[in-house]
Amino acid sequence: MLLERLKAETAPLHDRVEAASALMSPELTIGRYIDILAAFQAFHAAWEPRIATLLADEALFDPRRKLALVNRDLAHFGVAPGRRFHSADWLVGRAEAMGSLYVLEGSTLGGRVIARHLQRRFGLVAGAGAAYFSSYGAAIGPMWTAFRARLEAFSDPAHDDAIVAGAQATFTRLIEELDRHAPPAAAGEVA
Ligand code: HEM
Repeated sequence: MLLERLKAETAPLHDRVEAASALMSPELTIGRYIDILAAFQAFHAAWEPRIATLLADEALFDPRRKLALVNRDLAHFGVAPGRRFHSADWLVGRAEAMGSLYVLEGSTLGGRVIARHLQRRFGLVAGAGAAYFSSYGAAIGPMWTAFRARLEAFSDPAHDDAIVAGAQATFTRLIEELDRHAPPAAAGEVA
């Protein structure tokens, strides 16, 4: 089954993205949290237009856009969105795009845990600094169930490999973006 395959074949990458973000670290600082938001902002700014084009399914994708959420969080901290030129042309094809969307939709599950951590640690809530990781709020469960159903319906032996490849490439790009926004020591620039 495609969903089991996706989970199994991206598990090591999930561990890496968790480590790269360190969002659950007891040592997470507001400064580091803002860096992480900036990484997600850069990712989404390039990724969302690309996914919208490749999927050509506004009913599916529009309610799942998250760039506005991350921009709102950055604005809460007085940080303007990045101005770097972005492109997500590494993503090709509708099957790859569905695999890619799997990663960002799945991240809302981890987001639930992260949002609780942000509230406990910094008092941040969906309306003030933690909109991105709170994502759909009470609708996270139903949104995930609905997306899984779409993915299962889309699954086909002819393009399941491309779906998995799209998911793996997405995790890898996210890790790269997080590393780019990491403090020098964490990025490996300091011995
Ligand atoms: C510290 C950061 C993170 C933590 C603690 C975390 C934790 C979790 C947890 C607990 C689940 C399972 C939820 C459930 O089954 O009900 C999950 C699922 C998932 N997470 Fe994360 N996550 C983190 C970051 C991320 C990030 C940054 C991404 C990608 C952008 C991501 C992608 C996924 C995906 C795709 C799933 C779904 C797996 C599946 O069931 O197929 N996670 N995460």
